[in-house]
Amino acid sequence: MFLLLWTAVLLCEISADTGLSQKPTVVIPPLTAGQQSTLTCTAPGLCSGSAPDITWSWRGKRNNDSYITGNTTEFKTENVTAGTQRHTSALTFNPLAEHHSTSVTCKVSFRGDITTEETQTVNVSYVKEVQITGSRKVTEGETLSLNCSVESFPPSLITWAKMSESDLQEDTDTFTQDQRTGALSIYNVTAEDSGQYVCTATHLNKTHKMRNVTVTVIYIRKPQISGSTAVNEGDVLSLTCSAESFPPSVITWTKLSSNTTLNNGTGSATLVIPNVTAEHSGQYICTANHLNTTLTERVTVTLTWITEIQTGSVCELQSDVLTCWCVSEGFPLPTFKWPLLEDHTQYSVVTSVSKQTVNSTVTVRNHGNTAVECVASNENREVKANLTIQTKLPEADAGPQRGVLPWIVAGVSLTVNVLCIICIWSLWNTRKKVKPNQEDRVYMSIQKAETSEYEVITPYQT
Ligand SMILES: *[C@@H]1O[C@H](CO)[C@@H](O)[C@H](O)[C@H]1NC(C)=O
Ligand SMILES: *[C@@H]1O[C@H](CO)[C@@H](O)[C@H](O)[C@H]1NC(C)=O
Ligand SMILES: *[C@@H]1O[C@H](CO)[C@@H](O)[C@H](O)[C@H]1NC(C)=O
Ligand SMILES: *[C@@H]1O[C@H](CO)[C@@H](O)[C@H](O)[C@H]1NC(C)=O
Ligand SMILES: *[C@@H]1O[C@H](CO)[C@@H](O)[C@H](O)[C@H]1NC(C)=O
Ligand SMILES: *[C@@H]1O[C@H](CO)[C@@H](O)[C@H](O)[C@H]1NC(C)=O
Ligand SMILES: *[C@@H]1O[C@H](CO)[C@@H](O)[C@H](O)[C@H]1NC(C)=O
Ligand SMILES: *[C@@H]1O[C@H](CO)[C@@H](O)[C@H](O)[C@H]1NC(C)=O
Ligand SMILES: *[C@@H]1O[C@H](CO)[C@@H](O)[C@H](O)[C@H]1NC(C)=O
Ligand SMILES: *[C@@H]1O[C@H](CO)[C@@H](O)[C@H](O)[C@H]1NC(C)=O
Ligand SMILES: *[C@@H]1O[C@H](CO)[C@@H](O)[C@H](O)[C@H]1NC(C)=O
Ligand SMILES: *[C@@H]1O[C@H](CO)[C@@H](O)[C@H](O)[C@H]1NC(C)=O
Repeated sequence: MFLLLWTAVLLCEISADTGLSQKPTVVIPPLTAGQQSTLTCTAPGLCSGSAPDITWSWRGKRNNDSYITGNTTEFKTENVTAGTQRHTSALTFNPLAEHHSTSVTCKVSFRGDITTEETQTVNVSYVKEVQITGSRKVTEGETLSLNCSVESFPPSLITWAKMSESDLQEDTDTFTQDQRTGALSIYNVTAEDSGQYVCTATHLNKTHKMRNVTVTVIYIRKPQISGSTAVNEGDVLSLTCSAESFPPSVITWTKLSSNTTLNNGTGSATLVIPNVTAEHSGQYICTANHLNTTLTERVTVTLTWITEIQTGSVCELQSDVLTCWCVSEGFPLPTFKWPLLEDHTQYSVVTSVSKQTVNSTVTVRNHGNTAVECVASNENREVKANLTIQTKLPEADAGPQRGVLPWIVAGVSLTVNVLCIICIWSLWNTRKKVKPNQEDRVYMSIQKAETSEYEVITPYQT
């Protein structure tokens, strides 16, 4: 019995002796950060008698890292066969990301200063928080460049997606960027590229770590002016200028050649003139100030207006010839209608224009008219008046102070008379023929002169 025990002790000593080449067996299960795990170290050979000393040591990456905090060790002895035992030490600890890629050493010391040790690398699978770097504000036309990274073991796959604005579902367009580097690049960004982007790091096919980032694109669109620019006198002028931009721009309204701000606002500004008068017409400028760019848009406000038929618009009856003058002022220039002329085939209309004043003179053979109506109109409205007829004595008033008009009237009347004679004569001629010529009428041309005081057009015959 004693002999047997001795041999057993001897056996262990020998094995330990030769065991300088035999190393302890260290078993490390797959380690996951945060999950408590146990490492085991088994002394080589089978011993009997006094148990060896098993110690664990650890060295971290930093110089002062020398032990795993919160560890526990457990020594176990297992009877294999009668009298022979297996000695094992179990090191239990909570693995952390910091423990990854470090090493543990298990040292087995036998009696008589015989030691053997084994060192193994500790791999801990872990994933840290997702980090996004890069500028979240980008000017339109430039490149958006974001980088998503996550510290993990083993490496994670990184994907980028854009959140659609309508629902918080992931947009269909995930960016096919390199899943290892996690770089997101969008060249020539537009305003539509603004929004929330989500970076997802997939670790070991099961853990998804996300981080979202809000990208804002700095941009400005051309200012837009809305509202009617042609207004009637007395109406309300209302023009709105707006410029779509980010960040919002400051909109100001000014009038050309005047630097007083008429109105201003953020994003848009409305110019309101409650009672428009002639002096309000002209060019207005909308300025959009956006960071250090300035965009302007101009608009021309035109005022449409027309005066009543002016006093001095009269009819004069001399001999058989009725001459009427009708004067009105306006913008755009008024045009005249003489309902009287609907009953006449022979007449002359002379129009003279001076600035915004239009003087329409009609000469017609009188057929016993009592009232002559004159109608002037433009885009603004229509004005009309009944002109009074003043009878003039044929010779008495034809003084030199009357100017050329009576001569024109006389000339026109003479022409009309001559034409009538021609007319009667031609009628007489056609009467002899089989069929009368229907188109045998006399017209006076109607013309509008832009700058000249007045213009007389000689009659022609068709
Ligand atoms: C190790 O040193 C760092 C600074 O170098 C210190 O922050 C840390 O607390 C130290 N750790 C221990 C366990 O002493
Ligand atoms: C385990 O913790 C103890 C202190 O509780 C420490 O002395 C020892 O070095 C640690 N072991 C390892 C392997 O870090
Ligand atoms: C192992 O054997 C020893 C005697 O050799 C005995 O005292 C001990 O209880 C045994 N242990 C187990 C777990 O069987
Ligand atoms: C940027 O995009 C805009 C609109 O999509 C396009 O008009 C422009 O040509 C692009 N510029 C470059 C440099 O690609
Ligand atoms: C990992 O993902 C790939 C593809 O998505 C799949 O084929 C594979 O089965 C997954 N592995 C595990 C362990 O889930
Ligand atoms: C995006 O991130 C912010 C803050 O990190 C969070 O409050 C928000 O809920 C996230 N949105 C989505 C859709 O994940
Ligand atoms: C208008 O601008 C001129 C120079 O363009 C300046 O001299 C003048 O002081 C300005 N007036 C006002 C009221 O700002
Ligand atoms: C323009 O805006 C400023 C404030 O930004 C305000 O003090 C000023 O009165 C505004 N001017 C006009 C004409 O609205
Ligand atoms: C508009 O202005 C004119 C001239 O200044 C004035 O006679 C008129 O009463 C004003 N009308 C209104 C509605 O204010
Ligand atoms: C705005 O001005 C700053 C400096 O004043 C300059 O660095 C920047 O490029 C300018 N931005 C634009 C869009 O011109
Ligand atoms: C209109 O023109 C005629 C000449 O064609 C002139 O005699 C008359 O005085 C003018 N009337 C007015 C109001 O200007
Ligand atoms: C002019 O007289 C006619 C007939 O008398 C009348 O119907 C018309 O309303 C009058 N027009 C004006 C503007 O007074």
